[in-house]
Amino acid sequence: MERNIKRAISLAVKEAPYTRLCSSKNILAVNGQFPGPTLHAHTGDTIIVDVHNRGDQNITIHWHGVKQPRYPWSDGPEFITQCPIKPGGKFSQKIVLSDEEGTLWWHAHSDWSRATVHGAIIIYPKNGTTYPFPKPHAEALIILGEWWKSDIQEVLEEFMENGGDPNNSDAYLINGQLGDLYPCSIPDTFKLTVEYGKTYLLRMINTVMNSILFFSVANHQITVIGTDGSYTKPLKTNYIAISPGQTIDFLLEANQKPNHYYMAARAFNSAPAVPFDNTTTTAIIQYKGNYKPSSPQPLPLLPAYNDTNASTTFTGSLRSLANKDHPVNVPLKIRTKLFFTISINTLPCGNNNSCEGPGGNRFSASVNNITLQLPTIDILEAYYRQINGIYGNNFPKFPPLAFNYTADSLPVQLRTPRRATKVRVIKYNSTVELVFQGTNLLSGVDHPMHLHGYSFYVVGWGIGNFDKEKDPKNYNLVDPPLQNTIAVPKNGWAAIRFKADNPGVWFMHCHFERHISWGMGMTFIVRNGKHPDAKILPPPPDMPPC
Ligand code: C2O
Ligand code: CU
Repeated sequence: MERNIKRAISLAVKEAPYTRLCSSKNILAVNGQFPGPTLHAHTGDTIIVDVHNRGDQNITIHWHGVKQPRYPWSDGPEFITQCPIKPGGKFSQKIVLSDEEGTLWWHAHSDWSRATVHGAIIIYPKNGTTYPFPKPHAEALIILGEWWKSDIQEVLEEFMENGGDPNNSDAYLINGQLGDLYPCSIPDTFKLTVEYGKTYLLRMINTVMNSILFFSVANHQITVIGTDGSYTKPLKTNYIAISPGQTIDFLLEANQKPNHYYMAARAFNSAPAVPFDNTTTTAIIQYKGNYKPSSPQPLPLLPAYNDTNASTTFTGSLRSLANKDHPVNVPLKIRTKLFFTISINTLPCGNNNSCEGPGGNRFSASVNNITLQLPTIDILEAYYRQINGIYGNNFPKFPPLAFNYTADSLPVQLRTPRRATKVRVIKYNSTVELVFQGTNLLSGVDHPMHLHGYSFYVVGWGIGNFDKEKDPKNYNLVDPPLQNTIAVPKNGWAAIRFKADNPGVWFMHCHFERHISWGMGMTFIVRNGKHPDAKILPPPPDMPPC
């Protein structure tokens, strides 16, 4: 098939001063913009992005939700598919779109740089096709972000060293702006001007580091029409729950009395023990016309911070559009069954028990009781060039020990994971079912799990322990949503299915940055198939050297 190749953009990563909350600090920003520049494309395009590291620290860039068929080389996760781009270095990355349509995003995938190094990818329908809903009058991005007063690398270094929780952020952002509820925020508020009677397509991305967010618009119902670069059945709702990594596209009909209305976002935090930033960011919808806006302007009603039901109800209501033009293709016969526990753990602090985690230990996190240890040569390189000793290929299909994962109090001995670099190897075209099981070790909490290289169908979810006899009977195999990030509910489970038709090395991890820093991630290697079209493409000549 003919591909539309564009040399779209070059991204230069560089430090620049930004002022928020009455103080200025240097952040890593791309092309002098925060949030970074938007990539525009059509379904099936390939975009060439020249990444130039003009900062003073290592960096990699990932295209979140882009499947990159047979081309893991540009995927971006540090030490999984590439070594970092060093200061002064360049890497020309190929963003290979296939059937993604809607909104995705790009972000740094090394240390915590993604806090400020991120931007949107908008994928329009192919020329000659249209949206599966009436054409909106206009479109806008709603990029939800997070702001620390201190330097983000210092936040990272501090909690990695002291073994405790990271410092909370000081604010959330909408399109880089704080909104009116923070000190010194005026005039830092994003405003969207609308005309009465018109409909707007809003593309929302949750780029925040450590929180699922609730979002709502005062006095307006909205209609969700897509998530993670795939269309959904229209879902009318008063609020959205959105995970870090996830995107939600929705229609806003300007059908209220002309006025100014707030939209607002704040954290959903399911675990009382986990500290979080409980501030609220706002932006304004302002109707055109001659009228005096009411004062104060209406604020939306958001679900309570700890309203797990509001979060799971929203996420559980998403359905694939599943029509003739956008069919679903859920694997029905499963070849590879995987069951992964996802846990918060502790490891010994070191020579003395002076860490700030529980009992003087150091926080850690795991998948099937394995805490990810990043290698020094990326796994893709080691796999492709058959370099031994970098990783083991026996990542377990099941947890080493079955226990009552979601029991109220669990024995302390279960808390300690093993550190390792292991991959799970999957045969080309195998059909995979993966059940994520949250555990109540230390503290049960939601985990937004993200898979690279694939979108997956979320066929089921529930609270408590997954029951392999009963629960599959209730799977939705008709119109499950197609996603790349799924919030596994606190002390609950989620089941996903996909066909392993994309050979490569693909990272899978929690999209809470503190959890990935603690090791909640693992890697899949999907083998080549026999056909020449089923093999990994050769690497580009300018892969950053290790
Ligand atoms: Cu949005 Cu592995 O990342
Ligand atoms: Cu997590």
